[in-house]
Amino acid sequence: MSFIVAIDGPAAAGKGTVSKAVADRFGFAHLDTGLLYRVVGRVALEKIGPALDEAAVIALATQVDIADLERDDLRTAAVAQAASKVAVIPEVREALVVFQREFAARSGGAVLDGRDIGTVICPNADVKLFVTASAEIRAERRFKELAARGEETDFETVLEDVKARDARDSERDVAPLAAASDAVVLDTSEMSIEAAIAAAIEAVDTARA
Ligand code: CDP
Repeated sequence: MSFIVAIDGPAAAGKGTVSKAVADRFGFAHLDTGLLYRVVGRVALEKIGPALDEAAVIALATQVDIADLERDDLRTAAVAQAASKVAVIPEVREALVVFQREFAARSGGAVLDGRDIGTVICPNADVKLFVTASAEIRAERRFKELAARGEETDFETVLEDVKARDARDSERDVAPLAAASDAVVLDTSEMSIEAAIAAAIEAVDTARA
């Protein structure tokens, strides 16, 4: 039997941490859908260049190699920006829908995190969460992550990046970042990540009862 947990939210809100914890707790598979857009962005930067010509990006998105999700060069700031640029293109999003829906439908349960899981990819998900936090808190967390990974950056640059992506993700016409009307909102600026995980687990327990 399938059981779908949809976790959406803006950049660096803690979706990944909450998703992994829920997947571990219940033995569900986890798909970080941001990685799909990051792969398209990464490969597009390599093969097409920074102008990201739309027709060429669409062609790449239809041929995503799932093995590329394991690449270790997807979490840089440059790739994040490229991902949010290619994610605006409707044909790119369309090319990634089937993979995401098939992953979600697997028996044994699945957690998918992204921007449009509860609204577009899995509108019938069993549990929907929207994990958010203030831009400053998210930028602080992302800055620490990038610094720990050895990327040279500063807080102000990361904050600008987060705000630019928030704007692009929220204002696009197709599948914009938004909480589904039936999502439980977890604001992690007011709440520890442990408390957010506990709330997410409780939401899944309630839905399964
Ligand atoms: O990890 P972080 O929250 O910074 O970003 P991500 O989840 O890896 O997503 C990177 C970019 O992919 C986002 O800024 C979105 O533009 C795009 N994305 C999307 O449009 N739809 C999704 N379901 C997931 C990511």
